[in-house]
Amino acid sequence: MGDVVGRELVTGCDWLQYDYRPALLPAGLARSLDMWRYRDLLPLAAGPIRYPLPVGGSPLLSVPGLRQRLDVPQLWIKDETHGPSASNKDRATALVIEDGLRRGVDTITTASTGNAAVATAFGAAAAQLRAVIFVSIDCQPDKLALMTQAGARVFQVREGYAAAVDLSRAAADRFGWLDRNTGTNPLTMEAKKTVAFEVWEQLGRRIPDVVIAPVGDGPTLAALDKGFAELVRCGVAERQPRLVGVQAERCQPLVCAWTGVEPRADQLDPAGTIADGIAVPKAAIGDLVLTAVRRGGGAMVAVSDDALLAAAATLASDAGVGAEPAAAASLAGLALALDDGLVDRSETVVLLNTGREVKPSPASGSAGRVSIVNARLDEVRRALDSDQPRMPGS
Ligand SMILES: Cc1ncc(COP(=O)(O)O)c(C=O)c1O
Repeated sequence: MGDVVGRELVTGCDWLQYDYRPALLPAGLARSLDMWRYRDLLPLAAGPIRYPLPVGGSPLLSVPGLRQRLDVPQLWIKDETHGPSASNKDRATALVIEDGLRRGVDTITTASTGNAAVATAFGAAAAQLRAVIFVSIDCQPDKLALMTQAGARVFQVREGYAAAVDLSRAAADRFGWLDRNTGTNPLTMEAKKTVAFEVWEQLGRRIPDVVIAPVGDGPTLAALDKGFAELVRCGVAERQPRLVGVQAERCQPLVCAWTGVEPRADQLDPAGTIADGIAVPKAAIGDLVLTAVRRGGGAMVAVSDDALLAAAATLASDAGVGAEPAAAASLAGLALALDDGLVDRSETVVLLNTGREVKPSPASGSAGRVSIVNARLDEVRRALDSDQPRMPGS
């Protein structure tokens, strides 16, 4: 069982610590991997897992065509798009809901740029919980449709993503809902760190030289750092990889912070990039990301939308891998890092593919509902009250 022995408050987020030792990791590689395999390093009491969807165990692809094209013979893609909603948000959703099921909650909430919301809607549907989701007014229509088809109650917040986060957290607090917000609920980080464990196992218990990941709010990259750090603290690895975080040129607050320049307005424009998943002008745990990148000797880089589109096309043509623009940032970032000498072609490099486009089915009608609201809790409450089915005669 995963006994948490310490908690450190890291930029507002609870950072859980364990009594680290080699025995906390599974002894040999199983035929099929899943996230629960690492439960000794998750804050989960003993007992059966109730979460009904598969989670974790994503493939580490050897991508021969891409290796050849880039002349990087030890290039790998950790493809996180094989879960129920095709993004790395499925891991965090699974652990948060597992915890909620054990505590008997009936409603889960999150704010999201899109993928965490879809993952939460799918996970809640499977676990028979109510999902109340807060997204920005400019959330992608396909992602909205996926949420409502899964039965989620969705609020599009006029003031944008940051206001949606505040509203979701306030609603969780006021209504006693399970709060899945990234950077708030430490379980999201705990779940996402298992990617590092899997990469290590899949490479034959070796640590890669470099791992490259897209960065929005920051938990994906910060969790990789925590996962690799825990392998070292458990005594099964000697070093951590360098982490390279990638943002879109049009929304690159952390790249600006990394290079020490004051961002211009056109570098903080979430609507200005096709990479909606990472279009976050103020990252929830930006400081943690910068610390993680600095610690391992990595870097933060920004890529253009053209580079993202080209990278998505190359992933399809040379690796047979589907990636949405935000996820293709890993490959676009590698191209830049190779050019800039941040990564050497002889190194073992892992690209994280964090999400793939999923189309909603053309189903007629949907079980969920969308309302557009101002960032006010009373508007949310009124909308939810009006959702209640009317009793006969009332
Ligand atoms: C496809 C994709 N990649 C990367 C990220 C960035 O994740 P994080 O917010 O953990 O930095 C997101 C976040 O929604 C995403 O949707």
